[in-house]
Amino acid sequence: MVDKGLKGVIAAETELSFIDGDQGILLYRGYEAKQLAVRYSFEEVAYLLWYGSLPTPAELTAFKAKWVRYRQLPEPVIHCLKQIPSDMDLMSQLRTAVSSLGMKPFEGTPQADHAIALTAMMPALIANLYRAQNGQPLITSIPTNESLNHTAHYLYLLTGELPSDVHVNALEAYMILTMEHGLNASTFTARVIASTESDIVSALTGAIGAMKGPLHGGAPSAVTNMLEAIGTPERVEPWLREQLEQRRRLMGFGHRIYRTRDPRAEALKQRIALMESHDPWLNLALLVEDTAVRLLAEYKPGRGLYTNVEFYAAAIMRAIGMPSELFTPTFTASRTVGWTAHILEQASDNVIYRPEAKYVGPRHSSVNVS
Ligand code: SDX
Repeated sequence: MVDKGLKGVIAAETELSFIDGDQGILLYRGYEAKQLAVRYSFEEVAYLLWYGSLPTPAELTAFKAKWVRYRQLPEPVIHCLKQIPSDMDLMSQLRTAVSSLGMKPFEGTPQADHAIALTAMMPALIANLYRAQNGQPLITSIPTNESLNHTAHYLYLLTGELPSDVHVNALEAYMILTMEHGLNASTFTARVIASTESDIVSALTGAIGAMKGPLHGGAPSAVTNMLEAIGTPERVEPWLREQLEQRRRLMGFGHRIYRTRDPRAEALKQRIALMESHDPWLNLALLVEDTAVRLLAEYKPGRGLYTNVEFYAAAIMRAIGMPSELFTPTFTASRTVGWTAHILEQASDNVIYRPEAKYVGPRHSSVNVS
């Protein structure tokens, strides 16, 4: 039996994350992701995923010192950034920029540091592409002071101002919760490329190509577009009904694995409540969520269609003033940890991916072409 989406097919063993789609559970290396997002930093959770245990204070100090050294972009990459047309969408630009990392001197980076180096460089890549798109000068001398953790460093590069703790904490929770999620489409892409013993930059570039799709990482900006199209509380139900009548998908809802609420959406919803945001957009979002879940149960009974992480990703990003064109690049910055962790895991026990396809085409008795 052919399942075009590989639904339910177990294609690898992993120690990185566990997802129970019926109970709405997500574990990173056995720890609840929701708990890690409350109690640890992005750097500490990345360390856990890459090396299998949370760092001791001494390990964390050495790790962060190495991390900030890798923030600086190599000269050839800065040269490449200046050539990328800024009228392309940011994810297409980022895919091109990341592929340029494969040039010298990155290839001289010790293999053991590839994951940390690529993750540490992402904020400067994204921020510089965004700045160029908005007519601002590139930041070529990247600050490497440890006073700014990874999330604060990212916000500082984007805005040129030191971010508030409220914004850093909210974005860090989002970035930890979206760091890793098993064999989703982009991570599976990375593992397939890694399984041929190709290089990590090729695997990352392929993953970004998968991530940018609207059914995957492209959803958060589609959620904001949906909320802006709805506009007012009175329009919520008629607008959603029309979409479902026309068999259109509601962005931010449904999931291949979760048949209950995505635990990450839950955690982000609680985080937003802590922000005491008085943005009327948020009230509309809450009404859209309740109505959409009710209507999805009516139009698609038994499918278990609930809110996924992207719905509240959009809300968190909007609450901290992140423009929607930066939603998927930010998701990319966080998921670079999961992608590189899976690439390392694939290399540790590698078998090349090569599934089969069922032939359903014609058969010709001879080659005579009239
Ligand atoms: C992410 O996999 C991951 O882990 C991904 C991710 C991660 O962390 O990496 O969690 C991140 O990608 C989250 C998902 C973001 N995408 C969206 O919000 C886009 C909207 N959602 C869908 O397109 C959809 O729910 C998917 C793609 C996410 C999952 O689709 P499935 O599991 O393949 O479900 P399906 O396409 O087989 O649909 C089953 C039925 C269909 O109806 P029927 O044809 O059987 O009548 O449910 C319907 C679908 O039409 N359906 C929806 C729907 N999602 C599924 N109907 C309306 N709105 C939706 N959102």
